[in-house]
Amino acid sequence: MKNITVIGSGTMGNGIAHTFAQFGYQVNMVDIDSKALANGMDNIQKNLDRQLSKGIITEEIKAKTLSKIAVFTNTIQAVANADLVVEAASENIELKLKIFKELDAICPLDTILASNTSSISITKIASVTKRPDKVIGMHFMNPVPVMKLVEVIRGYATSNQVTKAVMDLSKKLNKEPVEVNDYPGFVANRILMPMINEAIYTLYEGVAGVTEIDTVMKLGMAHPMGPLQLADFIGLDVCLAILNVLYDGFGNPKYAPCPLLVNMVNAGNKGVKSGVGFYDYSKGTRDMFVAANFKKR
Ligand SMILES: NC(=O)c1ccc[n+]([C@@H]2O[C@H](COP(=O)([O-])OP(=O)(O)OC[C@H]3O[C@@H](n4cnc5c(N)ncnc54)[C@H](O)[C@@H]3O)[C@@H](O)[C@H]2O)c1
Repeated sequence: MKNITVIGSGTMGNGIAHTFAQFGYQVNMVDIDSKALANGMDNIQKNLDRQLSKGIITEEIKAKTLSKIAVFTNTIQAVANADLVVEAASENIELKLKIFKELDAICPLDTILASNTSSISITKIASVTKRPDKVIGMHFMNPVPVMKLVEVIRGYATSNQVTKAVMDLSKKLNKEPVEVNDYPGFVANRILMPMINEAIYTLYEGVAGVTEIDTVMKLGMAHPMGPLQLADFIGLDVCLAILNVLYDGFGNPKYAPCPLLVNMVNAGNKGVKSGVGFYDYSKGTRDMFVAANFKKR
């Protein structure tokens, strides 16, 4: 594989494009929004500068990486020679199904179609294409240039050959791929989201405050950040959407999102991206916010 097309230039798309280009692949990065494309390239520049200042890459690799990325707003042109397409557009099932239907129609017949979805069924995505054996999940973690894991998700019809190709390719990006089957939440979010939900229930039931809960998990379990802070970073709306996928997919009440999480999302408190979540980021501080309303009894 030589030519990679990345659909979407947001948080994940620009990280994925950066990583492939850094390891010598020719990358076409597509976004329907030209402003998002410019922001994506800006981000890649900044992240390359950070890698340079830390001595992870040289000036030459930085220049080579940038020279390997082309940007497009037209998907047809961007996929014309693609060996692999990695879709990292917004997490919306209708949108993903539309994108994969279109990709199937316009990509060469042997192009592998991967999705970076956090929670949408790969089998469902594959079902709108005529090549379900060549559809696979390639779940990179944020920030992509830094995080080692790629969760490789086999849909119901994904072939052994395609799975092997994607596992091998991930290794060439200096990542650790892990193969998992396509069930709700895959592995990463099936385990992470119930932990975050339980932390929110612990707060909701007044067992402890925000910093207390996060401190227990940081200092007691050696987690780099507490679950409530992590939820703020992921986005509380994203956490709620993934919990709903688990709840609907398994029909098991243990995945029911905590009513406090639902209330916070409805109130627009989505975490870092909205300025306020379990902590207040609006003034550049991380003061407790919700804790004031959920004091220990
Ligand atoms: N953010 C994370 O931490 C994270 C981690 C792992 C996986 N993911 C998954 O990665 C995907 C992307 O997430 P993100 O956080 O980068 O989202 P984002 O909102 O930052 O970026 C999405 C981009 O997709 C673009 N887009 C929408 N429709 C498009 C189309 N038809 N063609 C081309 N571009 C289109 C948007 O303009 C936007 O720039 C989602 O499926 C998400 O679940 C996110």
